[in-house]
Amino acid sequence: MIKVGVIGYGYWGPNVARNFNLAGVSEVVAIADKSEKSQRRAQEAFPQVKVVGDAQEILNSAEIDVVAVVTPVWTHFELAKAALNHGKHVFVEKPFTASVAQAEELIELAARKRLQIMVDHTFLFTGAVRKIRQLVDEGTLGNLFYYDSMRVNLGLFQHDINVIWDLAPHDLSIMDHVIQKEPEAIVATGEKHLNNLVDIAFLTIYFPGNVVAHINVNWLSPVKVRTTLIGGEKKMVVWNDLEADEKIKIYDRGVEMTNRQGVYDLLVSYRSGDMWAPKIEQVEALKAELGYFVNCIMKNENPHNDGKAGLRVVRMLEAAEESLNLKGEAVYA
Ligand SMILES: NC(=O)c1ccc[n+]([C@@H]2O[C@H](COP(=O)([O-])OP(=O)(O)OC[C@H]3O[C@@H](n4cnc5c(N)ncnc54)[C@H](O)[C@@H]3O)[C@@H](O)[C@H]2O)c1
Repeated sequence: MIKVGVIGYGYWGPNVARNFNLAGVSEVVAIADKSEKSQRRAQEAFPQVKVVGDAQEILNSAEIDVVAVVTPVWTHFELAKAALNHGKHVFVEKPFTASVAQAEELIELAARKRLQIMVDHTFLFTGAVRKIRQLVDEGTLGNLFYYDSMRVNLGLFQHDINVIWDLAPHDLSIMDHVIQKEPEAIVATGEKHLNNLVDIAFLTIYFPGNVVAHINVNWLSPVKVRTTLIGGEKKMVVWNDLEADEKIKIYDRGVEMTNRQGVYDLLVSYRSGDMWAPKIEQVEALKAELGYFVNCIMKNENPHNDGKAGLRVVRMLEAAEESLNLKGEAVYA
């Protein structure tokens, strides 16, 4: 039985604590949170579990194998580093760290200690993203043209990070998983309006082979939108994560161009075929993710959403921040 200690029991911590209790495989034995209110909530939800105020008690505990770091991003590095130094595998919330240098240091430390890092890129474990990845891998979409995503709603305003570091890690991790290429350059624009943190931003990411991604994140939208378009040479996908049943629609639509006798004889034909909605697996993504992590630990295998995947996302976030500060100048990878 893998024993887990959870640090941070605010908004997301309760979900991690609940889903790490996997019958016969792993169990949460301790929860730490600085806030007394959070400690009370944790103790009510998990009467059998030891609840403490100081994370050091979890780090020092000989019985704990895995530490879950579910605290604000600026604390991830110190807590994850301490956990690795105490010989624990770590599950770290997104975004992995607050800088590329921190991510690299944790990856190196974990490798040296032969410990696993998993970064919580929860969306990769949803039925929708699994299906999209399958469509790409099986070649159903053909060569990818673009990835265009909109993740907007009113709030929740954060006080320590801007909208890019808050919302874009989701899109960047999904895009990284689907496109499976390293970006060449990033352009980011945005603006702050209320609390000196950028609250609306537009990211453009250039990949080799003319693949382009666009991500729109916004805390100031009157409505919630979670829609992604993925354009491929053969098929196109519309993923609306707010749809209850038909989250993914595949369109057999596209454009074909032939240019037989020079540039003035361009033949453009539009393909407007069927649309269908494939069956999507109904799973609790976090449960699937944590089960996979425990399995990786037992088999001593690297999860695909490991420290390196976390680093790729942090590298894009850092580049986006740099571009934003330069009012949209391209930052090359
Ligand atoms: N994967 C997802 O979908 C998802 C969703 C929401 C949040 N998150 C991530 O989870 C992390 C936490 O976000 P949140 O919204 O739960 O934040 P939160 O502010 O609601 O909760 C953080 C908790 O950590 C506690 N804490 C901070 N430093 C501590 C320390 N050193 N020792 C013990 N306790 C400490 C705080 O008291 C607080 O209760 C962030 O990295 C965020 O990006 C991920």
